[in-house]
Amino acid sequence: MGGSGREMIDPSEFRRVMGHFASGVAVVTTWGTDGKPQGLTATAVCSVSLRPTLVLVCIERTADSHDPIRAAGAFAINVLDATKGESLARRFAAGDEPDKFRGVAIRQERSGAPVLSDALAWADCEIREAITGGDHTIFLGEVAAADAQEGSPLLYYRGGYGRFIP
Ligand SMILES: Cc1cc2nc3c(=O)[nH]c(=O)nc-3n(C[C@H](O)[C@H](O)[C@H](O)COP(=O)(O)O)c2cc1C
Repeated sequence: MGGSGREMIDPSEFRRVMGHFASGVAVVTTWGTDGKPQGLTATAVCSVSLRPTLVLVCIERTADSHDPIRAAGAFAINVLDATKGESLARRFAAGDEPDKFRGVAIRQERSGAPVLSDALAWADCEIREAITGGDHTIFLGEVAAADAQEGSPLLYYRGGYGRFIP
C-alpha cells in the first residue's frame, strides 16, 4: 500500500508518539565507493527471521550512507554500549562530522562491511532486498556473521539517551 497521499497525522506528533517505543541504538556501517568507511546512527533496526537469519534497517533516502549501503550490497549493525556508545551515537548522527571513524577501531568479518571493535553486539549482513518505505529504504539483510560481548546497552527514549537498569 502506498499511502493516501495526505498526512493522516502530523509528522512531528508521529515522532513524539513513536519516541515512547524505547530502543537500543546502533551504528549501521558500510564502505563508500571512495574506499572509506561510512556509517550512521540508527534505531530503526529489527530482527526479522530465523530461517533464514534476516534483519532489517530503515535508512533515510537522503542520508549520505544510503547509496553506499545499496551499492556495497552489505552492511553491519553495530549495537552501542552504555559506556562509549553515547558519544559514538552523537557523532554518527551528526550531518557535519568530517571524520566519523576518527579513533574508532574497525575490522572486517564475512561481508567486508566495517565492524566496530567496541560494539556490544554486531551483525554482518548481505542485502537480500531493498524495499521503499516512504522517505526511507528498508534494507533486508541476511546475517552472515554475528557476535556479542558482555556489557550494558545504550538506550534511546523520547529523544534522550539512557541506560538499562534491570
Ligand atoms: C537516536 C537516533 C536514531 C536514528 N535512527 C535513524 C534510522 O533508523 N535511520 C536513519 O536513516 N536515520 C536515523 N537517524 C538519523 C541519522 O543518524 C542522521 O541523519 C545522520 O546524520 C545520517 O548520516 P549520513 O548522512 O552520514 O549517512 C537517527 C538519529 C539518531 C540521533
